[in-house]
Amino acid sequence: MKSSEIRKSFIEFFQKKDHKFIRSAPVVPIGDPTLLFTNAGMNQFKPIFLDESKPEHVRAVNSQKCIRVSGKHNDLEEVGIDTFHHTFFEMLGNWSFGDYYKKDAIKWAWELLTDVWGLDKNRLWVTVYKEDQEAYELWLSQTDIEEDRVLWFGKKENFWEMGETGPCGPCSEIHYYIGENIANQSSEGVNIDAQYWELWNLVFIQNERLADGSLVQLSQSHVDTGAGLERITSVLQNKTSNYETDLFQPVIKELESKSKIKYVDNPVPFQVIADHIRMLCFSIADGALPSNEGRGYVLRRILRRASRFGRVLKLEEPFLHKLVPSLCELMSEAYPELMEKSTHIKLVIGTEETLFNQTLGRGINHLEKLIDKLDSGSTISGEDAFKLYDTYGFPIDLTQLIARENDIKVDEDGFDSEMSKQKKKARQSGKFKLKDKNINWVTLSSEKDSEFVGYEYLKTSSRVLKYAEIENGFIIVLDKTPFYAESGGQVGDIGSISFDGVDLTVIDVQKQNEMIVHLCKGEVSNWSKATSVKCLVDEDHRNNVKRNHTATHLLHAALKSVLGDQVQQAGSLVHPNYLRFDLTYFEKISKYK
Ligand code: SER
Repeated sequence: MKSSEIRKSFIEFFQKKDHKFIRSAPVVPIGDPTLLFTNAGMNQFKPIFLDESKPEHVRAVNSQKCIRVSGKHNDLEEVGIDTFHHTFFEMLGNWSFGDYYKKDAIKWAWELLTDVWGLDKNRLWVTVYKEDQEAYELWLSQTDIEEDRVLWFGKKENFWEMGETGPCGPCSEIHYYIGENIANQSSEGVNIDAQYWELWNLVFIQNERLADGSLVQLSQSHVDTGAGLERITSVLQNKTSNYETDLFQPVIKELESKSKIKYVDNPVPFQVIADHIRMLCFSIADGALPSNEGRGYVLRRILRRASRFGRVLKLEEPFLHKLVPSLCELMSEAYPELMEKSTHIKLVIGTEETLFNQTLGRGINHLEKLIDKLDSGSTISGEDAFKLYDTYGFPIDLTQLIARENDIKVDEDGFDSEMSKQKKKARQSGKFKLKDKNINWVTLSSEKDSEFVGYEYLKTSSRVLKYAEIENGFIIVLDKTPFYAESGGQVGDIGSISFDGVDLTVIDVQKQNEMIVHLCKGEVSNWSKATSVKCLVDEDHRNNVKRNHTATHLLHAALKSVLGDQVQQAGSLVHPNYLRFDLTYFEKISKYK
């Protein structure tokens, strides 16, 4: 059976049992800040489990695109080394939202695996949670599995949780022995030996884990099952490696022809690349882009890992983007978004790997010289790692990756401390910062908050709540003020604060919590009489800032209309005389685009 037929037969099996097919959610989660990527089929149903929304159908079936690259469920360094863990995989699932429970979930999983797909019952093992007597008995009463193939396990193996918080519950897993000789099997191997593959996890969602670690009972019980399509395909195609199935072979064949090296002669680099290109294509199709932060940084790391492994196959020039069309073709029957976005995906990957090659080219000599001087097992200093970062643009994990290949460590703490030193320097060279000074406030009133009235007034009569002397002037907090404080990259107002014949020039206005602090130049000798002051905002300055503020919005809209939605505002500076607009875009913007 082809992988596409297996996917289809899973879905049809449950459709016949009144399940409604639901499309995969994007791998870039919408509206769940606890997740970097969609990492399980249940993510999109989390609000249903938590009673926050009602399901349209109480039974569902789907094939969910999942990415596991960090956190609870994966270790990136292992991917490609073994033959059955992936950064991107498809999870086939059937769902009950407060409808059927353990009995049908168990009965149907067994029926599909053994009757429909005809898996050998003498290779299947089942695990249940140590406190779930009910599941244990159901396996024996609802299926013909032999009793000694049903095993008890503890919380680590058989209590499923999506992350630190969220819906969870006891689970029952189905494992398959892929070894050559079935007489060599033993219950001891399950969950330990790599020849026993977990194929399908049936989770009985009945609890929620809260942020304080406690477990509460949900108002209803649900079924969430997840079967890895790659492993099932491997087993049904009589393979012992997912990479030997039709889900990966087309890409591996293409790599063989590009590199002139045979997969069997050095499988790991082929596997890493064949895995990573899927993750890259699916995540970019769903809107992610390589960058220096968060999700984008994960993409960048994965792309660089694949690109580095390409060098093992003597692929020095950018090559990953050339794999995009065949991967999109392979997967687009089930996920048409890939074909729709294939030009974009190819462009993003091509641009990123070209940039990466340039970075590598710049710093690699320097790093190699460093490594040459070190004995194996020793450490690159924080200072050197920081120089690579600061001068050559080598992110720390690239230095780590290359160092690891040479059996050398990197002093990460040292790197972090160099980084904070640099940040401190940058701060010190900047302008007056409220938090950096030991300010000796003189308090004239116990009120703490200042009211901003500058949208209605440019002039006010205000009271001084407190003040402090600084170099060449004062900082002053008022009960109410027409001065706009610097915020979101927009400079503060300027103007004057006067009293008793004294004029102070307001040169900057900053916010500290609920206080608006005016930085003023000038001299005042007698404050005691001076608690009531007149404020005047420089109107020209304000209007010029306003215009440039409007201009940033216009510029953003224009960039979007020319370059598309991928343009992201990364920051801006709005000044009376000019504006700066920082943006991220996946490639260099030319004059004409
Ligand atoms: N939520 C479970 C898992 O991800 C079953 O779908 O393994």
